[in-house]
Amino acid sequence: MISPGSIQEVLNRADIIDIVGQFVRLKKRGANYIANCPFHNEKTPSFYVSGSKGIYKCFGCGKGGNVVTFIQDHEKLSYPEAIRWLADYYKITLEETERTPEQQQQQMVEEGLRILNDFAAQYFHETLLDSEEGQLIGMSYFKQRGFRKEIIERFKLGYNPEHNDAFFKAAAQKGYSAELLEKAGLVKNRMGTYHDVYRGRVIFPIQSMTGRILGFGARILKSNEKAPKYINTPENELYIKSRVLYGMYQSRQAIGKQDECFLVEGYTDVISLHQGGVENVVASSGTSLTEDQLRLIGQLTKNLTILYDGDAAGVKAALRGLDMALGQSFNVQLVLLPEGEDPDSYVQKSGAAKFHEYVKGHKRDVIGFRLEVGLREAGSDPVKRSKLVNEIAESISRINKAEDFSLQSYYIREASSKLGVEEAGLINLVNKFIREKIEQDRRHTRKDEVLPEAEVLSSPEPEVQTKNTDEDQEWHLVRVLVENGSQPYEGYTNVAALVIDRVDPALLENAMVRRIFNSYYEYLNTNGVNPEISYFINYPDATIQQRMASLLQTRDEISHNWKDIYGIETLHEVAGYLSDVDSTLSYFEFKKILIMQELLTKKILEEKDPVRQTLLQKKYIELKQTERDIVKKHGTVTFKVGRIR
Ligand code: CTP
Ligand code: MN
Repeated sequence: MISPGSIQEVLNRADIIDIVGQFVRLKKRGANYIANCPFHNEKTPSFYVSGSKGIYKCFGCGKGGNVVTFIQDHEKLSYPEAIRWLADYYKITLEETERTPEQQQQQMVEEGLRILNDFAAQYFHETLLDSEEGQLIGMSYFKQRGFRKEIIERFKLGYNPEHNDAFFKAAAQKGYSAELLEKAGLVKNRMGTYHDVYRGRVIFPIQSMTGRILGFGARILKSNEKAPKYINTPENELYIKSRVLYGMYQSRQAIGKQDECFLVEGYTDVISLHQGGVENVVASSGTSLTEDQLRLIGQLTKNLTILYDGDAAGVKAALRGLDMALGQSFNVQLVLLPEGEDPDSYVQKSGAAKFHEYVKGHKRDVIGFRLEVGLREAGSDPVKRSKLVNEIAESISRINKAEDFSLQSYYIREASSKLGVEEAGLINLVNKFIREKIEQDRRHTRKDEVLPEAEVLSSPEPEVQTKNTDEDQEWHLVRVLVENGSQPYEGYTNVAALVIDRVDPALLENAMVRRIFNSYYEYLNTNGVNPEISYFINYPDATIQQRMASLLQTRDEISHNWKDIYGIETLHEVAGYLSDVDSTLSYFEFKKILIMQELLTKKILEEKDPVRQTLLQKKYIELKQTERDIVKKHGTVTFKVGRIR
């Protein structure tokens, strides 16, 4: 938990004009600033920011709030995450309550590394610009690479002198300990004396999304040496490679604005593209993409275009991480550059206009691409072909979001014709993979179900770190009921009356949830009033007491998204309990409908009488329509979970 004092410090410090200005182009208008709203598409600005009041408001879409809600909304973060984001931006160290000694130790090291990295980056940068050696060697190198002064500034490029321990001495004089310097990967101890690791190399600082320097890449200048081309910061408390993308800080605004992110391999690719005016680009730094890196991009855009070398290694690298990206519902395109070129060489040689033209003309969707490569490899070998069918089906099954529904059917059509298999068969296969994935997720998250009820109740449950499962939804329903049961709801006495009308308690699978649910209505029926929250906090069963206390405390962590289970996403348009109530109820309604569909399907298959069969089918179609209505109201559904077999 972040201490209240720290939160206050962040709030005092955070300047709404500064922060909003990081993401949108603000224009002064009287006492306020205006801009095109970042939350909806518009051509004339209706988004207002007031510096003195510390608020923003869009008169087009209605969004508004303070600096924290802006970061929450724009970066898709929870409240504490937004506070952390702002603290990071303003270099405020957050005080955390209830932290273990290990966590405190970790934070101290992290903080030390941060300060050291700032110093080191500054030292390298100044050495490059102000020292004779820096000019003669470092700058000449960058000049020869075609990097101009302004881009060198933007990326804070630097140079480490050739002399054995020039940097070490400067750092030691400033009081940085040798131990910390080693941890940061900047110096090495050889037989009792320390020397610089990046001697005679040019330096690329690696920055976080908020501009903090996390580590460095240091490139050798001579090409014929045995030494590695790049030396990168080793993993430490601050630099966690799998969570960093080079160029994110400089590119994040353009990525959001263009709603597309180019992914390249190298530091120099990012820099050259920026210099050429292509600013929506990050580099994976020569390794395969990770889930965390994708999430970083996903906060800004869902359109990912991978730009790699056209050689075999480039193709392989491009295909890595593909399923992950599809699973995170990215629209992934692939562009292979002419053999022997990387984005850096291409844009330096041909310019930005040609680059855009090339990208436009050579974009291809990845499944299509994989299909093509796979078919070429498999030839007419039936075993290889059937393996390929499975692989492609699995890839397609990862596209599991409503907005991609048409994309998914497109791939199925494409793949079935190219692979020479029937569409229906392929759909079945895809559904099989979807089902397996769901089953897998369920197995992971439902442990207490197999326990007998008594045991569940007597052993205190571990704090649930919630995932989107049926069980979370059930707890969410309990929360809504306990917190908002006596609130008004149109057409009903109150929310509790609505809930009992619409939720069939038999659908509740978790024993404890059922118990609380039933006792809520028992109380209501006996006393004629809704039970207060305190009734459950002081419930005569200790386990329930605990569970309720933590449930009501952790309201933010309980997501009312059911997208991971049924591919449905809720829209958060109406704030407050009403949208909470609606979203929860729709979930149970949806679940009921799916169960009914399954029963109906069975009946239809078993029914011999054609007239009655037609009637059943009609009912089925009605159910489908209801399903669609729910989905339309609450967001999106995609590929059906293969209930119809
Ligand atoms: N890389 C690395 N260590 C190496 C080689 C490469 O960490 N020994 C990473 C770097 O992040 C590098 C990326 O892989 O940026 C791509 O490698 P490469 O294409 O060889 O480097 P470029 O960035 O293109 O550098 P240059 O244009 O100077 O050759
Ligand atoms: Mn290169």
